[in-house]
Amino acid sequence: MQSLSRSALESIIARRTPGFSLESPLYTSREAFDLDMEMIFGRHWLFVGSEPELPEPGDYITVNIGPNSVILVRDDDMQVRAFHNVCRHRGSRLLQDPKGITGNLVCPYHQWTYDLTGALIHAENMQHCVAEGRHNLKPVAIRNLAGLLYICFADNPPADFDDMAAELTPYLTPHQIGRCKVAHQNEIIEEGNWKLTLENNRECYHCSGHPELLCSLFHFFGETKDTPANQLEDLRRYEAAKAEMVGIWEESGLPHRAIEKLEGRPTGFRIERLALEGPGESYTMDARRACKKLVGGFTNARLGTLHIHTQPNAWFHFLGDHAVTFSTIPLTPDRTLVRTTWLVDRDAVEGVDYDIPHLTEVWNATNQQDGSFVRWAQQGVQSPAYEPGPYSQPEYMVDKFCTWYLERLQSGMALA
Ligand code: FES
Repeated sequence: MQSLSRSALESIIARRTPGFSLESPLYTSREAFDLDMEMIFGRHWLFVGSEPELPEPGDYITVNIGPNSVILVRDDDMQVRAFHNVCRHRGSRLLQDPKGITGNLVCPYHQWTYDLTGALIHAENMQHCVAEGRHNLKPVAIRNLAGLLYICFADNPPADFDDMAAELTPYLTPHQIGRCKVAHQNEIIEEGNWKLTLENNRECYHCSGHPELLCSLFHFFGETKDTPANQLEDLRRYEAAKAEMVGIWEESGLPHRAIEKLEGRPTGFRIERLALEGPGESYTMDARRACKKLVGGFTNARLGTLHIHTQPNAWFHFLGDHAVTFSTIPLTPDRTLVRTTWLVDRDAVEGVDYDIPHLTEVWNATNQQDGSFVRWAQQGVQSPAYEPGPYSQPEYMVDKFCTWYLERLQSGMALA
């Protein structure tokens, strides 16, 4: 693994050529990783879970991001709160499990006890600490975007989350995320830098490597002077399918205009409703629904997919019959956690309305394939022979992601 000075890192950031991939140290060095954790994951809104992961009062999940561990817990008033998972006595981690249910938050070391609002309510032989009221759990900024939960470690989180929330809420509300339940969740560790995971997600230039996904996802590229006739044909097929879907979306009251705000702001995002192949219902091998009971009270399964990504660490697919959320967390310079969660209507019954292998088949296969692409990319960028290469037209969002990333680093370093 390479090491480099702060000034060398600043030079690499400043000399990036737009339209080309990043230089190797940004993917491989401990210094760049530490900078990413401070400037990107320490200062931006991070998607960490959804409301169905904490359906009842006392339900919690814990999320570990770099040196931080965070508890998200639903309180007795049904509000989801976030706290640092650090006891105010001598700092012990409070909760070790990734999820669970609890009445109060009890430290395992000396049993200081906090209620679900984070208030210290018991400290054996130290009740004066309770009375002082200044030893409550430290809150973490949290926003609930139509059921999607974001946290931010910054003292002053980016205010443009409000703009993103205003844009995305009308698209998300009909899918009623809060009425869903978790059908399945899994985690994989991709053996690559987190940016390679995100870059891979931001393009479908590689999607011929996803045969299961292409059973339902149109594989088309933009139109350029280099576009061959067969790809133009795919583009025309997609345009025809989308024209039909627009009528269905409008009948169903579903917003579908693509919105892309990826650069020049802390909270970058993109949203678009897409038509799917054939029956156009879901990400399955025959593009038909995987869950008989639809979400959101929808009566028509043929809704295509609402595709969203939010920077720096998430992407989503909302369908008529289920939703899939993806959250990524950097672990080391060359290891990244990808957590995938499948949501269905809370009244859907496993074994009757859906089964897990069928529901998860496409994205499990796609995740495994993406893990290979990311691993191979990491192996390549570590080579002395690697140099930044040019992006194609269908990789324009990768270019925008890299531009956003460098903007955010430069902005953060200027303030540091
Ligand atoms: Fe938590 Fe002592 S460190 S009660």
